[in-house]
Amino acid sequence: MLLITGATGNVGREAMRLLGDRAAGLSRDPARNTPLETIAHVEAVLYSPRAATPELLTRAAERGAKRVVVLSAATVTHPVGDPRFIAEFTAAEQAAQRSGLEWTILRCTDFAANALAWAPQLRRGGVVRGAHAAAVTSTVDERDVAAVAVRALLEPEHAGRTYLLTGPQPLTQAAKVDAIGRATGRELSFAEIAPEQARQGMLAAGLPAEIPDRLLGSLADYARAPGPASTTVADVLGRPARTFAEWATDHAEQFR
Ligand SMILES: NC(=O)c1ccc[n+]([C@@H]2O[C@H](COP(=O)([O-])OP(=O)(O)OC[C@H]3O[C@@H](n4cnc5c(N)ncnc54)[C@H](OP(=O)(O)O)[C@@H]3O)[C@@H](O)[C@H]2O)c1
Repeated sequence: MLLITGATGNVGREAMRLLGDRAAGLSRDPARNTPLETIAHVEAVLYSPRAATPELLTRAAERGAKRVVVLSAATVTHPVGDPRFIAEFTAAEQAAQRSGLEWTILRCTDFAANALAWAPQLRRGGVVRGAHAAAVTSTVDERDVAAVAVRALLEPEHAGRTYLLTGPQPLTQAAKVDAIGRATGRELSFAEIAPEQARQGMLAAGLPAEIPDRLLGSLADYARAPGPASTTVADVLGRPARTFAEWATDHAEQFR
């Protein structure tokens, strides 16, 4: 059995779908959780640092696990934003490397699904109010991250490899909003506001302080210099990485 931590999240959900009955998912929701103790044999673990602790790797190894695939972040080698989040991902990578399991590390850029944070504003009107319109990243489609993760869970040749996973195209935030506009057939725009105003808006919308802390420092850095880009998704999967425009088309309903 392949053990998926963060099974209800963006990547975990897609990994569960791709793996079907070969996968068991962990969740804080008892209705969606398969307790580790009930799994006779674990082959490999998809390790989401937000959803699991290193102790889980020890318990999985006790149930036979041979491999771990870590959902890490590009910021480990291309540092942006608040150092505490870099430290968090670095610690997760090190925990996997010390676990005694064969490991594969997936250092991901920002997920396309992060754009869903704009959905409430875009459903209310045609404008995203946010900081750093010119911040450039090669956003990766979380379904591609899951597809690479599944390969690494199943195929031993990815052991000991660290992959930088990005989308195929560097885009500003404003260009991403344009792409959502084209996908939804609406005239949409990005209106730049001061970072502090953006922070207050997120807090007023009920988001925990961690969200603006994670986001705003990174965006400020990506406005100064574009985030990294790689061809790894296509290299591993043997097909092109999904574009942000494809993601927007597939999620258009959520912005209407
Ligand atoms: N979003 C990005 O741009 C990005 C970029 C690079 C790396 N990553 C990393 O990739 C991993 C997967 O991201 P994702 O977007 O697929 O997952 P996610 O939606 O952020 O979280 C996955 C699952 O973890 C559980 N979870 C969330 N917050 C938690 C908390 N505070 N404590 C314990 N469990 C929690 C939730 O599951 P239950 O409610 O079912 O327990 C959630 O569905 C994360 O570790 C993330 O840090 C994300």
